[in-house]
Amino acid sequence: MVNAQSYPRPIIIDTDGGVDDALAIIMALNCDRFDLKAVTVLAGNIDVHQAANNVLRVIDIVQPKHPPLVAKGCEKPLLRPPFNAAGIHGADGLGELHRFKNADGTERYPQLTVQPSSENAIEVLLKAAEEYGKDLTIVALGPLTNIATALQTNRNTMQKVGRIIIMGGAVTVPGNISAAAEFNFFVDPDAAQIVMESGIPLTLVGLDVAMKAPLSRQAVEEYAKQHPSVVSQFIADCTEIYMAFYRDNEGFYGCYLHDPLAVGVAIDPSLVSTESVYMVVETEGKFTSGMSLADRRDRRDETAAPPNVDACLDVDADRFLKLLYELI
Ligand code: RIB
Ligand code: CA
Repeated sequence: MVNAQSYPRPIIIDTDGGVDDALAIIMALNCDRFDLKAVTVLAGNIDVHQAANNVLRVIDIVQPKHPPLVAKGCEKPLLRPPFNAAGIHGADGLGELHRFKNADGTERYPQLTVQPSSENAIEVLLKAAEEYGKDLTIVALGPLTNIATALQTNRNTMQKVGRIIIMGGAVTVPGNISAAAEFNFFVDPDAAQIVMESGIPLTLVGLDVAMKAPLSRQAVEEYAKQHPSVVSQFIADCTEIYMAFYRDNEGFYGCYLHDPLAVGVAIDPSLVSTESVYMVVETEGKFTSGMSLADRRDRRDETAAPPNVDACLDVDADRFLKLLYELI
């Protein structure tokens, strides 16, 4: 599914700065198989400025030897009005970290002094595509607005990218933000369809697999007790509101690991089984906007509708969770 390559591999994470994005970025920062060149940011879970600040917060918590460049991109979807998930990820997108204090009463997460790069995310994506070409993997954890804009800006260059691993969509299960659509595709269906038509090798890490590897609140709290650290405390803190949303709305006290699974698939594609399908994303539907529709008919015409996505349909959840714990 991914080209056989030497390690560390150049990757870029494109993110909308929410709670599961943060866990995914922690994994990527701690993975020695990755050379995380940049984190490009856009509006989705939260506005692009807060999302960039959240990425910088994660980098400040992890303190990697070589911090990646953080570059802001699109402030809103290509055509649709902005739509966020502050009700799920907290008003700051990271579980409202201002609530937490140290034993001495000081802020556990004080205001950051570091700023994102002045470079624009679209330029960062295109420069990396030009420099790394087929060696580059982009892991897209939010709406696909940045990637679609890069394609609209310089399609030939962007098409040099080796693979895009997309957290988004759903093939055999309902949506999450609507009956038909997963959040990232719902926010910017036009961008998602542009990426579907791009010709770039795509892996779709959709709700079909993301919802098969939940993480319980109890597991997070136990982990933080058994492995006390700045990172494990941050994970317990930033997931508190996110997990309460699942407790109150999805019937279990925990959360799905959408974005961490996308990073997991980038690290070890054998975690999932995939089906190569022809996929489109609905951009017109009154009730179905953002729906990812895969043509899985036996009689489909593969010349008229050639497969364009490796869609993940199953996951070895135990092996993925083991990898998650190794990397947080
Ligand atoms: O539907 C889940 C996706 O939407 C995740 O990437 C989450 O962070 C939100 O962006
Ligand atoms: Ca996300």
